[in-house]
Amino acid sequence: MARKVILDVDPGADDALAVCAALFDPRVEVLAVTAVGGNVSPERATLNVQAIVEQLDPPRWPRLGQASQPEGGLPVKGRFLYGDDSLGADGFRVAERQHVLASEKVICEQVRAHPHAVTIVALGPLTNIARAMARDPELPALVGRIVIAGGALHGPGNITPTAEFNMYCDPPAAQAVFRSPSTKTLVPLDVTNRVTLSYDVFHRLPSENTRVGRFVRGILPSVFRAYRQQFGIEGIHVHDSVALMAALNPELVVCREMAGDVETMGELTTGMTVFDRRRVPTWRHNMEVVVDAQTDALTDALLQSIAAAAEAAG
Ligand code: RIB
Ligand code: CA
Repeated sequence: MARKVILDVDPGADDALAVCAALFDPRVEVLAVTAVGGNVSPERATLNVQAIVEQLDPPRWPRLGQASQPEGGLPVKGRFLYGDDSLGADGFRVAERQHVLASEKVICEQVRAHPHAVTIVALGPLTNIARAMARDPELPALVGRIVIAGGALHGPGNITPTAEFNMYCDPPAAQAVFRSPSTKTLVPLDVTNRVTLSYDVFHRLPSENTRVGRFVRGILPSVFRAYRQQFGIEGIHVHDSVALMAALNPELVVCREMAGDVETMGELTTGMTVFDRRRVPTWRHNMEVVVDAQTDALTDALLQSIAAAAEAAG
């Protein structure tokens, strides 16, 4: 029985690669791909989600969700880590769709339709998840699991010295989700930073003669350029794909029950994920955190998933 999944994404090529892997994975039924602002504006995220699904044209189209601004707007106006529309230089053109439901509505609808059976894979800021919980207070108890890409356990942040990007974009939403009585798995930067794709990856990607090969080869070069220009490294991180692979291959990761929260007001620490690791903790455990992973195996799982997607898509 395929696992029912909602992908909540702020594409970004990082997210787009994960969506590509999930859409054709026989273990997964992607019920919805819901857009959230983060790497790009909410408007651009909504268009990019549509572009990704149109370009990949999976046998079973997921429902799409429309992103909207978090309270107070996004603190980072476009990360341009992935090119100006954050899907690489191709800038896939899409016709604006009408009547796309708000992402939080799609999430509530799908979780209600499949109680205790849906895994939400949150690969962007947690704005939509928090709004869905506010909209339907029973959602935390009805959702099967929320897998969250983001946060940092021991290591530094990536958008500030203390905060990881997804948490930093909407700290109140992240705090609300962390504090919700839902079953959560956090995949922090400590783990996702350990996977780096080098240029060799282009030898392992499907050929340009396949739809998936054209798509992934279209979006990745600008990411390599951006990482070289901005970080001086000859390789890229694929945080979202690592989080998805961890969700689909739990045997490849080690998790620990922890008590985590999110700073929402610190001048230097807004968006920082904080964990109670005292000898005698008082915070109650509220999530499992991926603390170790077989990163080579996760990388292989991702590339096998992309290759299988190309086979399936033709
Ligand atoms: O910090 C990395 C995360 O922030 C990734 O999900 C990336 O796509 C951005 O959303
Ligand atoms: Ca993302």
